[in-house]
Amino acid sequence: MSNAIQLAASDRVFVLTGAGISAESGIATFRDAGGLWEGHRPEDVASPQAWARDPALVWRFYSERRASAASALPNAGHVALADLQEALGVDSVFLCTQNVDSLHEQAGSPQVFHMHGELYKTRCERPACTLAPFEDRELYFGELPRCPECGARLRPHIVWFGEEPFGMRRITREVQACDLFVTVGSSGVVYPAAGLVREILYRRQQGESCRSLYVGLEAPANAGGFQDVRLGKAGEVLPGLFTVTR
Ligand code: APR
Repeated sequence: MSNAIQLAASDRVFVLTGAGISAESGIATFRDAGGLWEGHRPEDVASPQAWARDPALVWRFYSERRASAASALPNAGHVALADLQEALGVDSVFLCTQNVDSLHEQAGSPQVFHMHGELYKTRCERPACTLAPFEDRELYFGELPRCPECGARLRPHIVWFGEEPFGMRRITREVQACDLFVTVGSSGVVYPAAGLVREILYRRQQGESCRSLYVGLEAPANAGGFQDVRLGKAGEVLPGLFTVTR
């Protein structure tokens, strides 16, 4: 007997990952430690209000995240998703992550969509500035960095609470086009990501044959939206979970 998820070679898969997939790589999730995130309430360090109040604290926080994520290595869960992209073809597996780490890329994923931004990128805080977000591994514990184009402050290229995730139109299109929607390691409380599975429910009500699957340690808040829930660690459940029939 096999619990594998069978995919046809023509299937399109949408994968949404959350903090849980990086937990086995040693990166703390947001809501597992009593609501605190490395000693902070997420809103106190990851919001436009926090940036306006204390930008030095925000940069200190993200500099610490940069430093600790630098030694993290991808785990078997990240590798299994990179393998799925290779097996089905990169154009058929849209990998969308809420995570700001680069562990999917390190695992070999050729395409990764970072809807909540990237830890190792920095951008100008002025929306109209022409400076593009750039690769940045610097740690800012002292003086705050300034934009070389316009002189405004540089900020982490992160989507904070109250800000709109990147690329929602693209994401919506991909969810509408997929045959299988998979979420891995996300508590299902942060929207709009947590609401994407509802599109699959809607499409099923219209008679489409798309499916949805959740993989994670415990049932998420939006578990009711999924047809299939597999409980366990991502690094243990994902390897070998998908088989592609030709
Ligand atoms: N394997 C699979 N799932 C795991 C593992 C593991 N090894 N360890 C923990 N989990 C699960 C937890 O049970 C939890 O349901 O991962 C989930 C992590 O949930 P959150 O910490 O809430 O992370 P996430 O859902 O990604 O948060 C969404 O909130 O703070 C914002 O922008 C931030 O992207 C983040 C968003």
